[in-house]
Amino acid sequence: MAHKLTWYGHAAFGLDLQGTHLLVDPFFTDNPVAAGKADEVAADYIIVTHGHGDHIGDTVAIAGRTGATVISNAEICKWLTGQGVANVHPQHIGGGFTYPFGYVKLTVAHHGSGLPDGSYGGNPAGVLITTVDGKKVYFAGDTGLFSSMKLYGDEGLDLALLPIGDNYTMGPDDALRAVRLLRPRTVIPFHFDTWELIAQDPHAWAEKVEAETETGAVVLEPGGTFEL
Ligand code: NI
Ligand code: MN
Repeated sequence: MAHKLTWYGHAAFGLDLQGTHLLVDPFFTDNPVAAGKADEVAADYIIVTHGHGDHIGDTVAIAGRTGATVISNAEICKWLTGQGVANVHPQHIGGGFTYPFGYVKLTVAHHGSGLPDGSYGGNPAGVLITTVDGKKVYFAGDTGLFSSMKLYGDEGLDLALLPIGDNYTMGPDDALRAVRLLRPRTVIPFHFDTWELIAQDPHAWAEKVEAETETGAVVLEPGGTFEL
């Protein structure tokens, strides 16, 4: 079974799993590189990795329009409920749940998670999705490098999505070290070039990944897709 991944720019991804539309960190409205619109994108489920505005993004509006179920940590789910989001499914770090489209486990991320209005957003997360046909996709979320990435790599990853922008997250050098720990079949970089502060050369990074590891590196433009 083929699954289609779409990068909407920054940390916003869509995953089409046999007709189930999953969005991750749907930041469109204030996203200078957004490929897509909050009032048009399809969503059955929305995963929010942490509370920062460039990740919560348009979650409230999209959930309101589509009725999508939002998956996030318990603190963010509680906050979203207070914002009028009808359907939430709280999880927490290390915990997984089987949804109709696959198994979702929240993973460790080293970052912050404060919500846009200053509310406490719990701990930031990454997410490991196992599709119904056994494909494993790891979204690191916003994070620095950590050695437990090796444990996620032990699960046998088909695809890893890693931030490379530096300043707020791992930069290219640590992201290359992350690839060595995660050992995915394919890696796709994100969280770069949204603003000047996180400008990077993703193609140079991808060449280094392919020269120095067994992993294939794919660089998408915002709006670009990848089949896994
Ligand atoms: Ni963040
Ligand atoms: Mn961010």
